[in-house]
Amino acid sequence: MRYENLLNKDFEDILGQDDVKKHLKSALLSERNIVLVGAPGIGKTTLAKNVAKLMPKPEGKQAPFIRVQGSPDLTAEDLIGDIDPIKALKYGPTSKEAFSPGKIFQANKGVLFFDEINRCSEKLQNALLQALEEKKVTIGSYKVDFDADFVFIGTMNPEDTSTEPLSDVFLDRFDLVYMHYPESMEIEKKIVKNSGKQIIEFPEQLLEACLKFIRNLREDENIDKKPSVRASIGLYERPQTHAMLSNRKKVAIEDIQAILISVISHRIRLKPSIKYLKKPEDYVKEEFEKFCEKGGCL
Ligand SMILES: Nc1ncnc2c1ncn2[C@@H]1O[C@H](COP(=O)(O)OP(=O)(O)OP(=O)(O)O)[C@@H](O)[C@H]1O
Ligand SMILES: [Mg+2]
Repeated sequence: MRYENLLNKDFEDILGQDDVKKHLKSALLSERNIVLVGAPGIGKTTLAKNVAKLMPKPEGKQAPFIRVQGSPDLTAEDLIGDIDPIKALKYGPTSKEAFSPGKIFQANKGVLFFDEINRCSEKLQNALLQALEEKKVTIGSYKVDFDADFVFIGTMNPEDTSTEPLSDVFLDRFDLVYMHYPESMEIEKKIVKNSGKQIIEFPEQLLEACLKFIRNLREDENIDKKPSVRASIGLYERPQTHAMLSNRKKVAIEDIQAILISVISHRIRLKPSIKYLKKPEDYVKEEFEKFCEKGGCL
């Protein structure tokens, strides 16, 4: 097994998400292509990048981990490669040497990590089909098939509306693994402290209140797009610097109130039933007031 070394390793950069980690590991062990699916900011990219740190080293040489950022501008040449005109002159236009291999060949015998796969065009999806199935790519006038034997790890945010739907033939080549928001307040607190900057004292009780407030918003029926872990990290960092600028030595509730809208309001979307009655800024402010009145910040 190519990824046998993963058997007793953990994806340590991701806290919680044990099921997801197990699925990812089993996909790698069986060398199956996988797409991590989930809302923004829940650790999809971080998890995939963690794989890069654990790539096996057969015969002492690190197996490749090649990253591609999905975008509408990505071309099939970026993925497959193209002819190098200087080498074409030297070796002849259809010689194998004239071809500069693109990302999918660089990933041969390793991992192709395709971040935000649904942000690239259908044409590009099609360019990947043969490689995903046959682990080879046949290129135009070249008589040779090139090896593209990699495990594909993709990420995708199903709520991203600016994207191309993935075709059925494309999706049939993957297993999907769904990621979710941090499962407990304790885990989210650790994530926030690990990923966010600690600048001045943030009383534990106030930090927990911030996270509780965010976690309540995720359960709120009026909210369509939920606040991500990045919102939680924002609610950890911004009150600290706000307190500093206000000459306080530690974070106070006023600091949280002051930055709340800037951190949260654009990160949520209200459901149509309420969106025409209220702006997200007002909604967040009012919900926080209610939360504090009920003793959430005590
Ligand atoms: N379970 C987790 N464990 C550790 N860090 C996490 C976890 N969830 C989120 N984070 C942190 O949240 C931030 C955003 O994570 P990341 O960029 O991996 O999200 P993403 O799912 O790829 O988002 P997007 O869809 O917007 O690209 C990072 O700082 C990451 O460390
Ligand atoms: Mg990402």
